[in-house]
Amino acid sequence: MIRIDILTAVPELLESPLGYSIPKRAQDRGAAEIHIHPLREYGKGRYRQTDDYAFGGTAGMVLMIEPVFSCIRQLQGERTYDEIIYLSPDGERLTQQGVNRLSLLTNIIVLCGHYKGIDHRIREHLITKEISIGDYVLSGGELAAAVLVDAIVRLLPGVISDETSALTDSFQDGLLAPPVYTRPETFNGWCVPEVLLSGNHQKIAEWHDEQALQRTKTLRPDLLPDEGLSS
Ligand code: ADE
Repeated sequence: MIRIDILTAVPELLESPLGYSIPKRAQDRGAAEIHIHPLREYGKGRYRQTDDYAFGGTAGMVLMIEPVFSCIRQLQGERTYDEIIYLSPDGERLTQQGVNRLSLLTNIIVLCGHYKGIDHRIREHLITKEISIGDYVLSGGELAAAVLVDAIVRLLPGVISDETSALTDSFQDGLLAPPVYTRPETFNGWCVPEVLLSGNHQKIAEWHDEQALQRTKTLRPDLLPDEGLSS
C-alpha cells in the first residue's frame, strides 16, 4: 500500500485523472491512498494567498514557501515520507525503471508547481527529488503529477486484474509491446495475423517476442543496447 499526498494550487486538475479507471481502482482496492491538498487552505490572510511577485522583477507569479512549508510539516507530523517530489522540467527524466522504484515506496509527497515557478528555497530545503516527464514545458505540475501517479499505481499488486499485464507493458523488458488484435478476424479485408488464431502458444509467444524486437528496432532503436559499438 502506497500513500501519495499531492500538494497543488489547482486541485480540480487532478480530480478527474485520478478519480477514474485504474487510479480509482487502485484506491478502491486499498492498494493506494491518494490525498489531494489544496495549497490555498494553507495560505495566510483574508485571501489565503499562495503566490506573490518575484523579487528582482522577473515576470510572473511565484508559489510562496509558507503554504508549502506548513502543509509538508503537517504531513510529516503524521508519518515519515520516503520522498518529497517536485515536478519540473529541470528534474530527472521519468522512466519506467524510475516508476518501478517509486512504486515500492510507502509514503510520498508530490508538489505541483504553478505560476512562473516556486520559491527556490522550497527546492533547496524541502524537496528530495525533482522529476520531469519530458523535455517540454507544461503550465503547471498537475498534469505531470497525474502521469506520475497513474504510472505508479497501476504497478501495485492487485490493481490490474491480469497479474502479468503490467509486466508485459512496453518498456518493462526494455522493448516496445507487440501489437494486439481482437474480433472480428477480418474487417474490411484487413486480417489478423494467422499465427494468433492458430492456438499454438509456443508459436504465439515467439511471434510476440519477434514483433517486440522488430518494433523496437524500427521505432525506438535508442532503447536497444549498442551492439554495433564493439564491431
Ligand atoms: N512542470 C512543467 N513542465 C513539466 C514537465 N515537463 N515535467 C514535469 N513537471 C513539469
